[in-house]
Amino acid sequence: MSEPIASYLIVSLPEATDSEEWLKSNLNGGLSPVFKFKLDDFQIGTLDSLVQESEDLAKLDQQLGGSVSKIVDILSSVDPASSKSGGSSNSANLVLGKPACNYVERFSWNSSKYRLDRPIKQLVGVIANEAIALDNDVRTAYSSYQTAKSNYLAADRKKNGDLSIKSLHDIVKPEHFVLNSEHLSTVLIAVPKTLNSDFKSSYETLTEFVIPRSATVVATDNEYTLYAVTLFTKYQQEFINASREHKWHPRTDFTYSEEVLNEMRKEFDLTRATESKVRNDLLRLAKTAYSDIFSAWFHIKAIRIYVESVLRYGLPPSFECSLIKFDKTTGKNIGKAKKDLIEKYGYFGGQAFDKKGDGSNLHEFASLVDTDYEPFVLYEVEII
Ligand SMILES: *[C@@H]1O[C@H](CO)[C@@H](O)[C@H](O)[C@H]1NC(C)=O
Ligand SMILES: *[C@@H]1O[C@H](CO)[C@@H](O)[C@H](O)[C@H]1NC(C)=O
Repeated sequence: MSEPIASYLIVSLPEATDSEEWLKSNLNGGLSPVFKFKLDDFQIGTLDSLVQESEDLAKLDQQLGGSVSKIVDILSSVDPASSKSGGSSNSANLVLGKPACNYVERFSWNSSKYRLDRPIKQLVGVIANEAIALDNDVRTAYSSYQTAKSNYLAADRKKNGDLSIKSLHDIVKPEHFVLNSEHLSTVLIAVPKTLNSDFKSSYETLTEFVIPRSATVVATDNEYTLYAVTLFTKYQQEFINASREHKWHPRTDFTYSEEVLNEMRKEFDLTRATESKVRNDLLRLAKTAYSDIFSAWFHIKAIRIYVESVLRYGLPPSFECSLIKFDKTTGKNIGKAKKDLIEKYGYFGGQAFDKKGDGSNLHEFASLVDTDYEPFVLYEVEII
């Protein structure tokens, strides 16, 4: 998990509170910038439907936030360079072409995309469906990428691994082999460097009918020497078994073939090209998805804050919403700031719905079912 670039407290209070000045000069010792979070007027249906929406919005808010983090993880695992080079602000994380924090601090509802004359339920549906479809596309692209990457790594091991695992087709030449003999076979053995003298002193007597002094060095790398040994075909399997007991690596997967050699080269080139293409597709999609899902997430937050504010402070809607920013250095103060906020504005807790005089008190109910329930509308959000 990446460290947050910034965290925000989002607080919505009844309009008459005049909280802005207090937030600016007192909260977190006046160290935290305060931004207005602009809320439009949404089409409120019945209070019943708002209570229903409230639950759905809470889930969606969490889901889209999770989806944004997942995309950040994908981007930094697929393209680690981009997230490190950015320094303080992650260069990959742009929302509508600007750093995510700018988007958050200047958030405004996109009314050409999401028309405000639609009922809340419909708006939420449209935003959620788009974001979830995009999230699915990213997941699919990521899993294609993982497949392409593991195919490429397998092909790369074959081409560039050590002599105990790599494909030997472009190493072994016809002259290393006794070809077309009825009785004789050539066995290839990768011998760890540390076992070289063991090999030299024992291979001729490993089984019967090993051709004396037939061992030739085909290739060497840092860890292994690859030998070709010729013996009677009849003893081939026994020789292979015995060489395993000596902890040598018989390369029984190899039979000499020009065709296989060409196949292998093609496979390497193809898997490399595929990996690179799928990776670029994924990066492009993930960057777009980050921007779009992030934006959807904040539209959902805006509705959520609105709905929660109406449910707590009643009708007609009259509240003001602020964002308080905590950066890397002030982030540790966020818990204390929350406490201070609750101390200062906790008295709103008792009021929800009371002014309707119908005896229902959402605050008491909600604080029973939700242990994170705050006495007024307060959210914390991390931007990573
Ligand atoms: C609003 O949404 C439209 C359509 O998706 C998009 O082209 C435009 O950039 C968005 N504008 C803002 C300010 O978000
Ligand atoms: C070699 O080992 C395999 C399995 O370990 C065994 O099935 C086979 O019979 C052995 N062959 C000889 C010739 O020892």
